[in-house]
Formats: sequence, structure tokens, C-alpha cells
Amino acid sequence: MPVIEVKNLTKKYGNTEALKGISFNVEEGEILGLLGPNGAGKSTAIDILAGLLTQDSGEVKILGKYVEEAKQDMNIVASYNWLTGLMTVEQNLEVYGRLYGVMDIDKRISYLLGLFELTEIKNKKYQKLSAGQQTRVNLCKGLINSPKVLLLDECTASLDPHLADKTRKIIKSLKKNTSILFTSHNMHEVEELCDRIAFLQKGKIVWIGHAKKLKEIHKKRTLEEVFIKLVRDEL
Ligand SMILES: Nc1ncnc2c1ncn2[C@@H]1O[C@H](COP(=O)(O)OP(=O)(O)OP(=O)(O)O)[C@@H](O)[C@H]1O
Ligand SMILES: [Mg+2]
Repeated sequence: MPVIEVKNLTKKYGNTEALKGISFNVEEGEILGLLGPNGAGKSTAIDILAGLLTQDSGEVKILGKYVEEAKQDMNIVASYNWLTGLMTVEQNLEVYGRLYGVMDIDKRISYLLGLFELTEIKNKKYQKLSAGQQTRVNLCKGLINSPKVLLLDECTASLDPHLADKTRKIIKSLKKNTSILFTSHNMHEVEELCDRIAFLQKGKIVWIGHAKKLKEIHKKRTLEEVFIKLVRDEL
């Protein structure tokens, strides 16, 4: 059984058709990359899967359940702000740890702070952090409940090369226990991490499969070249 099942998902914002009936699955232990140009509908899809938005039609099943029933076993990290500015890094993580009913919260938090090199700034208010520091706190929040399903929407945005590399290694190491839907505009990162990619354009999935195959079809050396070709062909 797929861990994430998406069938004929549609979503409109006023007259804007953000999703025009997309379907895909994510299998156990898989990282599926959702790629596409700005405005293609990636964040809309991820936010529906996270239960932050409601679809107009179509069905989402996570671990065989509807989103509301699967929330304890999943988590999301997005590039935009999530946490409370006036609370410290540690306080924010404590709130989420309690919401998810994490056992031994203090141990989990100190492990994650260490992993993302945040221990020294754990008592700083979230709003006083640099963009890359906030991103890393968001990643800690996303991993607080050791989720079986993780939704990552540009989760490496603003990270310096050392921390982006470290984060990619952490994401890879999660694969044993976690299925991941991943978006990024960094095509090297996508090639390194994703088992398959789904290419979204104007609210439709135009291709789904292995990056290697997509490069072969379009006779390109890199995924970045394929991306640019697909977008230019559409214009
Ligand atoms: N809250 C909103 N109200 C109105 N329109 C929206 C809203 N959020 C997104 N849209 C529109 O829906 C479409 C899809 O946006 P979405 O944010 O899902 O794209 P995306 O693929 O994540 O893009 P990006 O790569 O820039 O993050 C766009 O046309 C966008 O303008
Ligand atoms: Mg987006």
C-alpha cells in the first residue's frame, strides 16, 4: 500500500486553478520530488496533504487514512515562517513536542538541536534568528515527532552550503523509517535525494518517474537543463 495516495486533486483560489486534478503515490521509504516552476501548484498540493488547506475535489490518503486521522504520524517543514517569534527556539520546540505527545521531550529536543547545530542559540527568541537559523529550527520542529510521513517544501532555503549538505545527509538517513514528499528549486539537490520526480506545470503533472529517464527522453545532461526546456516549451 502506498504511504501517500493522491487522486484527482483540484484546488481553485478564486479564478486561479492552482491544481487541475493531480494524482500520484509515494511508496514506503521513498523520496518523491515535486518539481515545477514558480506558481505550478507545489505548495498548494503540500498544504492540502498537511491539512492546512482543503481541496475542492479529489482524495488524499496518508498511511491509508484521511489527513485528519494521520496528523500524529506526519509533519511538514516549509520555507515560510511557522513558529512563534516571541518564544525561544527551545520553547517553540517544546510546544510542538507536547502537541505531538512526544515521550522524553527534553532528550528529543536536545538531540535535534545538536543535529542542526542550534544548541548555542536555544535560548534566543525565534524572531531574532537569521533566516538559515529559522530554517533549521523549522526542520527540528518537522522531526520532533519522528514522523512516518514528512512534507518538505523548500526546506533547505537559506541554508549555507555546509548546513545544506548536512541537512541532505540527514534527510537521506531518514529514508529507512520515513516517506518524504520534497520540493526544491535546487536541481542538484533533487537529483541527489529523490528516488522519483513528479513534474508539475500549471496545476498538472506532466511527467512522473526517475530523473535519469527524464534526462534521457529530453537528451539533456542535467535535470536543470530539462527543467528549463520543459518550462520554455510551455511558454
Ligand atoms: N492564498 C492564495 N490566494 C490566491 N492565489 C493563490 C494563493 N496561494 C497560491 N495561489 C496561486 O496558486 C498558484 C499555485 O501557487 P503555489 O504556491 O502552489 O505554487 P508553487 O508551485 O509552490 O510555486 P513556488 O515555486 O513559487 O513556491 C499560483 O498561481 C498562485 O498565485
Ligand atoms: Mg511553493
